[in-house]
Amino acid sequence: MQRSGSLSQIVLVLYHVAIAACAKLLSGGTIIAFDQETEELKVIRNGSVLIDGDRIVSVSDIASPFDVPAGVEFIDCTDKIITPGFIDTHRHGWQTVFKTMGSNTTLADYGSRYSALLAGIYEAMAAGVTTIVDHAHHTWTPDTSAAGLRASVDSGARMYWAYTFQNSSAEFGIPEQIAQWKELAASMTSNLTQLAIAYDDFTTNPTGADTLAVADLIRESKSLLTTHHVEGPWLLGNSPEDLHRVGVLNSSTPVVIAHAAFLDVRGAGLLRSTNQHISITAESEMHYGHLHPTSHLIMDQASLGVDTHMTFSTDILTQARLWLQSTRYRVYQNTIDRFQVPAQNPFSVNQAFLLATRNGGLAVGRKDLGVIAPGAQADLVVWEGRSPGMLGWTDPVAAVILHASVGDITHVLIGGTFKKRDGRLVDARYYDEVQDRFLASARRIQKVLKDTPLPSQEGSFLTGTPYGYVMQLDAKRGEGTGYGPSFV
Ligand SMILES: *[C@@H]1O[C@H](CO)[C@@H](O)[C@H](O)[C@H]1NC(C)=O
Ligand SMILES: *[C@@H]1O[C@H](CO)[C@@H](O)[C@H](O)[C@H]1NC(C)=O
Ligand SMILES: *[C@@H]1O[C@H](CO)[C@@H](O)[C@H](O)[C@H]1NC(C)=O
Ligand SMILES: *[C@@H]1O[C@H](CO)[C@@H](O)[C@H](O)[C@H]1NC(C)=O
Ligand SMILES: *[C@@H]1O[C@H](CO)[C@@H](O)[C@H](O)[C@H]1NC(C)=O
Ligand SMILES: [Zn+2]
Repeated sequence: MQRSGSLSQIVLVLYHVAIAACAKLLSGGTIIAFDQETEELKVIRNGSVLIDGDRIVSVSDIASPFDVPAGVEFIDCTDKIITPGFIDTHRHGWQTVFKTMGSNTTLADYGSRYSALLAGIYEAMAAGVTTIVDHAHHTWTPDTSAAGLRASVDSGARMYWAYTFQNSSAEFGIPEQIAQWKELAASMTSNLTQLAIAYDDFTTNPTGADTLAVADLIRESKSLLTTHHVEGPWLLGNSPEDLHRVGVLNSSTPVVIAHAAFLDVRGAGLLRSTNQHISITAESEMHYGHLHPTSHLIMDQASLGVDTHMTFSTDILTQARLWLQSTRYRVYQNTIDRFQVPAQNPFSVNQAFLLATRNGGLAVGRKDLGVIAPGAQADLVVWEGRSPGMLGWTDPVAAVILHASVGDITHVLIGGTFKKRDGRLVDARYYDEVQDRFLASARRIQKVLKDTPLPSQEGSFLTGTPYGYVMQLDAKRGEGTGYGPSFV
């Protein structure tokens, strides 16, 4: 953090302004900045953030640290709260077409039934998500794969588009996919989209040629790896131990382990010693029943994700709030179970805020993402501080985490460029076109899905674990089934 008001800072600011072709000054807001030295959030009231190109140059506690010269865009942030953009470290963007069609599914339904972007990324950006790790498992053909990458690049969001290596067909197996990945990587020109790698067969195929080829690609390319790890009765594998055995965990290449549901002591120790991260997708893990019984014990190596946003909210704000309150419940329970009254609150709003922002940056190996500090990427969200829901706040972190809604988001910038401005997505005309195309294809694809019968859930899940009875709850007296009509 620059020492505000000092002569050196003003000189630095003027120097940068002199060279800035596209500088912006966000002035007069309350800034939730990050102090890289103490590693704490730092609230600055009535301050300013100066952006030059895609980076933050300085963060000051003076609203107008200099006379704004021509060429510097002045953005009045009086009464507003300025935060870093949120980071979503796990989602499947292509599933946007199925929106609302999974409202009462479990993970077992999901696995066998929904195997079907741009609209989804716009949705996320409008909600203040600026970086996304997309586990793209729609790599069925070279065309569907290339289309996913193109949509990510076109979106203008900061994307880690993780090509999923899977045996899609006899003609398009992992060797062909690796060849396509290399071609795509060679032609990447985007500064915001990075080609990454997703693989889910480290446990089921630990020594096969496919796994070894994917591991080689990870080591050669040093591209981010993401995988699904869900244990307990699910037995879906890909534990830190299994990744480590294949030699992909202990290096500077970032690894994001989605869910890490039922992570054990050994796995947690391995994540700490190799500095790799998990992605807690609080809402999905509750909705589908993965659960996350130990995730609160590894929050120092955790970030937040959305997962299948066709089924619920797309925004990390909701994930942070749900994770915060459900974790408080879980930890309080431990005290209450001993017939005692909780003497403290176990989990602060600051911690939830860090999970949603800075920890996501660390998960993808980027200290310059998810923080407001000099030198960081200018991925910013500006919140309305005087909406009916926000009016009267004192602590801006609590205001955002516990009171804000995504409707309070006025501006979103990624790499210093406006993506949402004054409450509307920038380039709305383009968005209108995307909306129409998206709705046409969603109607077509949703019909196919509707005509596909639900799988039978008798016998056992695909990993061999038996299905078990689930008590049905009802909000209406009488002989309920737990469900009223379905409006799909
Ligand atoms: C913010 O600071 C500016 C000077 O930089 C001052 O003019 C303004 O009154 C301050 N606003 C508030 C709300 O304190
Ligand atoms: C919800 O579950 C009920 C009972 O299993 C089923 O009849 C209904 O079709 C389901 N709705 C959706 C949207 O899947
Ligand atoms: C991939 O799947 C095809 C069937 O779609 C099968 O014939 C082939 O043996 C599988 N390849 C591997 C390496 O498992
Ligand atoms: C990427 O950044 C470089 C310099 O930072 C710039 O010259 C180039 O135009 C950028 N490319 C894209 C596609 O934005
Ligand atoms: C990771 O690698 C470093 C050397 O690069 C080594 O010192 C360390 O013990 C390794 N950790 C594990 C868990 O294997
Ligand atoms: Zn997932």
